[in-house]
Amino acid sequence: MTSNTTQMLTLALTKGRILKETLPLLARAGICPVEDIDSSRKLIFATNQENLRLLILRGSDVPTYVKLGAADIGVTGKDVLLEQGGEGLYEPLDLGIARCRLMTAGRIDRPDMGNRIRVASKFVNVARRYFAERGVHAEVIKLYGAMELAPNMGLADLIVDVVDTGNTLKANGLEPIELIAEVSSRLVVNKASMRSQHDAIQSLINALSEAVAESTACYDQPT
Ligand code: ATP
Ligand code: PRP
Repeated sequence: MTSNTTQMLTLALTKGRILKETLPLLARAGICPVEDIDSSRKLIFATNQENLRLLILRGSDVPTYVKLGAADIGVTGKDVLLEQGGEGLYEPLDLGIARCRLMTAGRIDRPDMGNRIRVASKFVNVARRYFAERGVHAEVIKLYGAMELAPNMGLADLIVDVVDTGNTLKANGLEPIELIAEVSSRLVVNKASMRSQHDAIQSLINALSEAVAESTACYDQPT
C-alpha cells in the first residue's frame, strides 16, 4: 500500500557539549524542539516541523543508529567517526562546532621511548592505525575516560585523546605531542535514507549549511 503522507525524518543528536552547540544551529535553520530538552528525561523530541523528530544519544551511539537506519541523519564528532569508521554513511557537512584535536600526549618528564610502547585510549582504532603507520609497535589499552591518569600511574607511556585548551593535560603533568586529526562535529546521513527521502534531507542539509555559514560570518565580523 502506498501513502501520500510525507515520511518522518529522524535526526540523532549527541547530548552534552555538542547538543549545546547544535541547538542554536538548528534554531537558525528554523528547527526547534517543542519542549525544553535539558529539563526533560525524554530521549525523543518532536519539533516545530511536523515531519522531523530528534533523538538524544551518546555520541558514540549516533553512527550505529544512522548506519542501521534507526535514524536517518545524525550529528557526531569526527573523532567518533574516525574511531568507528564511516562506512554506510554520507558525511555531507562539517558543522564547525565542538572543535578540538585528536592528539598523542605524554608526561612532561617522560624518558625517551623505544619502538615498543604502551598507549591508553578510548580511541583504540585511531591509536593502532596511527602508530602502525609510523612503524611503532604500540600495545593499545582501552580506557573509557580519565585517560590523563594512565601515564601517571604507569599504565601507559602515552595516551591518545581529544585536546582543546590543553588545560586537562597540563593539570595532570602531561603535554600534547603529535596532532593526529582536527576534530569538529559532522552531519552524517544514512545512505538508503538519502535515496528514499532525498528532497527532505537535502533541504535540511541546505538549511544547516546556511546556518553554519551565518554563524561563521558572525565570528568573522571585525570588532
Ligand atoms: P561519551 O559520552 O560518548 O563517552 P564523552 O563523555 O567523551 O562521550 P564529551 O566529552 O561531551 O562526551 O564529548 C563529545 C564530543 O565533543 C567528542 O566526541 C568530541 O567530538 C567533542 N569534544 C570532546 N572534548 C572536547 C573539548 N574539550 N572541547 C571541544 N570539543 C570536545
Ligand atoms: C574532554 C577530553 C579531555 C578534555 C580536553 O573531557 O576527554 O579530557 O575535554 O579539553 P581541554 O584540552 O580543554 O582540557 P571533558 O571535559 O568532556 O570531560 P569527560 O571526557 O570526562 O566527559
